Amino acid sequence: MHRRNGYARRTVAMVCAVAVVAGCSSDAGVRSGPSADSRAGTLPTSTAAPGSSTTTPDGQPSTTVVPPTVPTPAADGVGDELFPSLGFTGIDVQHYDVVLSYDPSADTIAGSVAIDLQATAPLEVFSLDAVGLEVERVSIDGTDVAFEVGRDALVVQPIRPLNVGESAQVEVLYNAAPNAGAGVVGIPNGWFHSTGGSYVLNEPDGARTWMPCNDHPSDKATFTFDLTVPAGMAAVANGDFVSHDSSSAGERWVWAEAEPMATYLILLLTGDYVVSEATTSGGLPLINVTLSGDEDLLDEYVRITDEQLAFFEPFFGPYPLDRYGLAITDSFGGLAMETQGRSLFSRDDMVGQQGYIEHLLLAHELAHQWYGNAVTPARWIDIWLNESFATYAQWMWLEHVGFGTVDEFALDALRARVLGATGRPAAGDMFSFSTYDGGATVLHALRITVGDDAFFELLRGWVQDHIGQSKSTLDFIAFAQQVTGTDLAAFFDDWLFSENKPDDFP
Ligand code: ARG
Ligand code: ZN
Repeated sequence: MHRRNGYARRTVAMVCAVAVVAGCSSDAGVRSGPSADSRAGTLPTSTAAPGSSTTTPDGQPSTTVVPPTVPTPAADGVGDELFPSLGFTGIDVQHYDVVLSYDPSADTIAGSVAIDLQATAPLEVFSLDAVGLEVERVSIDGTDVAFEVGRDALVVQPIRPLNVGESAQVEVLYNAAPNAGAGVVGIPNGWFHSTGGSYVLNEPDGARTWMPCNDHPSDKATFTFDLTVPAGMAAVANGDFVSHDSSSAGERWVWAEAEPMATYLILLLTGDYVVSEATTSGGLPLINVTLSGDEDLLDEYVRITDEQLAFFEPFFGPYPLDRYGLAITDSFGGLAMETQGRSLFSRDDMVGQQGYIEHLLLAHELAHQWYGNAVTPARWIDIWLNESFATYAQWMWLEHVGFGTVDEFALDALRARVLGATGRPAAGDMFSFSTYDGGATVLHALRITVGDDAFFELLRGWVQDHIGQSKSTLDFIAFAQQVTGTDLAAFFDDWLFSENKPDDFP
C-alpha cells in the first residue's frame, strides 16, 4: 500500500480547561433510579393529569394530583420475533431532540427528550420503550398528560385520542442512573461508564435504558443531541458538529444527525476527547474523535479508511451517508460498533496493532454504513442483512491488502460447519458465527450462483433503492430475484433457512 495524504486536517473544537462547577444543570435534579411506584407499574404521583394539574411555586407539577388510570395499549411491541416488547406499532417517529446532562462522578443523567411523531393508528394511548427511567413529566404539544411507567414501557395518554396521520410532539422529562447490563442477548449493552466519562453501545435494545424512544430498527428518525458535561469534558454524538460553549453549567455540545437513523446506531461519548475534521481524497467529510493524547493514532486509520472507501465504492455504490469518521474510546477490547456516520472502536484494538485486526474492524464497520445504516433491518431476525454483509466486505478488504483470499475465508467458514439457520437466529445467537461468517458464506454461495456482475449489481441496487428505509430478509430475497432474474427460493432455503448449510459451494 502506498501512502496517500489526500485529506486535510483541521481541528474543529478542542476541550478547554475552564474551571466551572461540575455536575448536572437540569433543575429536575438527579436521583438514583426509578421509584418504587414506577417499578410497580402504578401511575407515579408526580404525574400532572390533564385538566386537573396544579403547579408548585417553581412551576413544577404538584405531587398531590390524583390522575386518571392510563389504559394499557392494546398491542405492545411491533411484533419483533426476537424482542416482542420493542417498539410500538401505532407511532412513526420523525425526530428526537435529546437534551441530556451527564454527571460522571455520580454516573447519572438528567434528560428531556422531545419526540416528533405521527400516529399511524387511532391512539387513545401509546407507549415508548423505557427501562429503568425515572420519569418526572410527560407533555404533548406543551400540555402535561397522564403517563404510567411500566417494566419496559412508558405508557402515555393524550388528552384526546390522536387520529391516523396526526402529528404530535411528546416531551419526556426524566432522570436515570443507566448502567449497561447483560441485556437480552447476553452481551452488555446500553450506557457504559468509562474512565473519566461514558459511551453507549445500544445494539440491539440498550437505547431504551437511557432515553425513552421507539427502540426498534423499523422506525428511523433524525436526531439532535444537546449534551452538557462538566467543565473540561467533551460530549460527542452522531452527525454534524453544531456548537460548543462553556458556562457555569458546564460544557454544552450540540450535534445534529440529519439522516434517518435507528436508535441502536446512536453514538454518545463523554470524556476527555478531541474532535477533528478531515476530508477524504474523494471529498467525503470526516469528523473523528479520539481521547486526548491519542490524536496521532488517527492518521494511519484515516488513511486506511480513505483507501477502503475508494475500494468499496465500485462494489457497493457511492458511500450512502453525508459524512463518516472514526471514534476511538476506552471501552473493553473487541468492541466495535457501526454507530451511524462515525464508527466506534476500542483503543485496545487500535493502539500499536498495525495489522489484521484494525484492517478487519475498520472495513467491517465502514461497510455497515451501507449495510445496516443506510438500509436497516426491518426486524432483528433480519440481522444477517447487517453482519453477513459487513463480514463479506471485511473479507474483500482483507484479500485486497494481502491477509488471505475471500475463497479461503469462505471455505474456512463453511468447513467450520456452522450450526443454526443464518436467516432465522434466536435472540441469543444474533451476534453468533452463524450470523457473521456463516452468513458471509451465504453471500459467497450467492455470488458463485449468479455471477460477479449480477451479485455486485444486487449489492449496489439494494442500497440505492432502499436508502433511508428498513427492509426484511424477504424483501432482500424478492429484490435478489428481480435483479438477477433468477428463481432463488431453493437457494435461500438451502443456504439461509436450513439448520445445516450445504457441504460445498455451488
Ligand atoms: N454490530 C456490531 C458489529 O458487528 C456488534 C454489536 C454487538 N452488540 C453488543 N451489544 N456488543 O461490529
Ligand atoms: Zn458488524
